[in-house]
Amino acid sequence: MPGADDQPYSSRPGDGTSPTPRPCLPTDLQALIDDAQRREQTENEVWDTWAEPYDNSFLGKGVPDAAVSRLTELATDGRALELGIGTGRLAIPLARAGIAVDGIELSASMAKQLKEKSTGLPITVTVGNMADYHDTGHTYSLIYAAYSVLHLLQSQAEQLRCLQNVARALQPGGTFVVEATHPQVFAGLLRGKNLKIRDLTDDVLSVSATVVDTAQQTVKFQEISIRDGEIRMMPCHVRWIWPAELDLMAALATLSLESRAEDWFGSALTPSSTQHVSLYRKA
Ligand SMILES: C[S@@+](CC[C@H](N)C(=O)[O-])C[C@H]1O[C@@H](n2cnc3c(N)ncnc32)[C@H](O)[C@@H]1O
Repeated sequence: MPGADDQPYSSRPGDGTSPTPRPCLPTDLQALIDDAQRREQTENEVWDTWAEPYDNSFLGKGVPDAAVSRLTELATDGRALELGIGTGRLAIPLARAGIAVDGIELSASMAKQLKEKSTGLPITVTVGNMADYHDTGHTYSLIYAAYSVLHLLQSQAEQLRCLQNVARALQPGGTFVVEATHPQVFAGLLRGKNLKIRDLTDDVLSVSATVVDTAQQTVKFQEISIRDGEIRMMPCHVRWIWPAELDLMAALATLSLESRAEDWFGSALTPSSTQHVSLYRKA
């Protein structure tokens, strides 16, 4: 429990230091804000390290045709907002299909990669945290969070805040799409500590290390590659959301579940599904 010694905005009597001006907030609240800011800074640094290698990594690969056509259908007014837009793996094909895409992106380095690749395409990026509301000058018929980006918000409170801001930016009748790893992967296949070889040649060794904490619903990843004697480490932190938990967060944010499938084709979800695609509607 925080005590009198924790008061952040007053100096101790007689210690000779000047008080640092701070907003007059209760200690507990200030500690929560400080903690959230520290986590955001850490995530920012994490994703900056991914920016340059992202497109050639296992994450950047894959042409998501089915995702692009489904999202194109759902963007009924020809515009969409992508949370965690990254280097445009989805946004670029979507923009080529005629949809104007606005994106929110935490990492300025990822946003820079996207800008360099998308000259002439109708894509704009706001650098910031997707948990916050950003006034892009538009409301949306479609907002989407693909590739598990909601799991990248590091607390349940931030995830709920994100959904509330999604609801604020959606038009009435608009759709929010979440594509995410099904947490049964984390609590099942990946449970505990794992090491997986991604690539092994005479010159390269790439491994993925994971530590799962089922009580906290978190996974720590470390993607490690050794090439020409040089070691590169790329971390990633996940705080997963169970589908039922996501439905409750969505309901609290005034969004209701319309459909849930295993993939972009609408295949039925099964106990061995590794991901889910869930559609929510704003009334
Ligand atoms: C796995 S990548 C996915 C990028 C892109 N959506 C795609 O499909 O390739 C995750 C992206 O989310 C961004 N991100 C992580 N946390 C974020 C946050 N709190 N707000 C906005 N973007 C965030 C990362 O910087 C990164 O670009």
